[in-house]
Amino acid sequence: MLASSRNALRQAATRQFAARTGVRAVSAWSQIPQGPPDAILGITEAFKADSNPEKINLGVGAYRDDKGKPFVLPSVRQAEKQIVESALDKEYAGITGVPTFTKAALQLAYGPDSAPIKEDRVVITQSISGTGALRIGGAFLERFYPGAKTIYIPNPSWANHNAVFKDSGLKVEKYRYYNKDTIGLDFDGMVADIKVMPKGSIVLLHACAHNPTGVDPTEQQWKDIANAVKEGDHFPFFDMAYQGFASGSTDKDAFALRHFIKEGLRPVLAQSFAKNMGLYGERVGAFSIVCESAEEKKRVDSQVKILVRPLYSNPPVHGARIASAILNDAALNKQWLGEVKDMADRIITMRALLKDNLEKLGSKHDWSHITSQIGMFAYTGLKPEQMDTLAKEHSVYATKDGRISVAGITTGNVKRLAESIYKVTG
Ligand SMILES: Cc1ncc(COP(=O)(O)O)c(C=O)c1O
Repeated sequence: MLASSRNALRQAATRQFAARTGVRAVSAWSQIPQGPPDAILGITEAFKADSNPEKINLGVGAYRDDKGKPFVLPSVRQAEKQIVESALDKEYAGITGVPTFTKAALQLAYGPDSAPIKEDRVVITQSISGTGALRIGGAFLERFYPGAKTIYIPNPSWANHNAVFKDSGLKVEKYRYYNKDTIGLDFDGMVADIKVMPKGSIVLLHACAHNPTGVDPTEQQWKDIANAVKEGDHFPFFDMAYQGFASGSTDKDAFALRHFIKEGLRPVLAQSFAKNMGLYGERVGAFSIVCESAEEKKRVDSQVKILVRPLYSNPPVHGARIASAILNDAALNKQWLGEVKDMADRIITMRALLKDNLEKLGSKHDWSHITSQIGMFAYTGLKPEQMDTLAKEHSVYATKDGRISVAGITTGNVKRLAESIYKVTG
């Protein structure tokens, strides 16, 4: 039977059923258009389907060990063991999460000597990792920010920023960030754009290890950015998804956030423990708001609770308990800081090896950006067609914008990777 006759028969049967039962004839979702697939998940699918035993996946932003395998931090294993042995109950956390975790998360981000913490004027809530923190932040600003509800994000930025803030009801605009000619920061463009934003604009800043470019401002540049934000009376929103992962030091990577606070600015902050503790699937994060006074904090805190309660009631406890044990137990904390540094150092070493291998092959291109960039990603400067060739002819998979996850490079695959890049770049 022809497909068209089959469809006609099915529709007639649906109509008869609808007439008999009163149930609507057409599906409520019949007009929903097919959405585009997620760019990163598409890469993973293509990678899985490739039968080349030497294939390389540099698409996904998750740390891999030098064998290319997912890595569970020994400090996390240890914390988990302690938690299981203490046979805790599984009662609900409060709306804002596990207090020992959020208290320690504040210290980690803002530093032990932070004035706002000492003055008890920082609101914090646990969140569903960094994405959830950004989403609570977006919703909070949409509801309460007194100025224009427009957030400026860098161009380019993590792909999800636009969607998160748009779905929160904010208008999203961009400021200049990346200079494709220098494969570095467009510092002048960035500051000029901040200066011409309408007074009181919301500005999203990647605290460290900018995704996707791996290009961070220097400490001096951060000082100048803070001045521009202050002059415009703008509102800083920090996204800190990689604290410790960039330089290997959690304090150094928090420089920008802490400097803004020293300058008297009162930012909001999204934190993620996905990368620096390898707790990806546990979804551990936090969203915090620096207030003017302890009295203001109380009012803001009450509204954060009112906002979170109908979203998901209260967050999951297991991952937060792991992070809490690591942040609060002195021995475990020391061990974890060492492990964060080891991860950051492995990435820094892979950057150097990739650059060395490209140079040894006689590449005439300047690859210095591979080592000057920082964090999990390198923005290679490769064009979309070159990325296509890398995938099709060399089984090397990464996003079309030329971003590679350096965490996916190993001593075992770096030579083949360099050869592949050399072949496609000439
Ligand atoms: C810049 C940036 N912000 C936030 C996140 C949020 O990640 P998660 O929700 O896994 O913590 C990521 C993850 O890749 C990121 O790169």
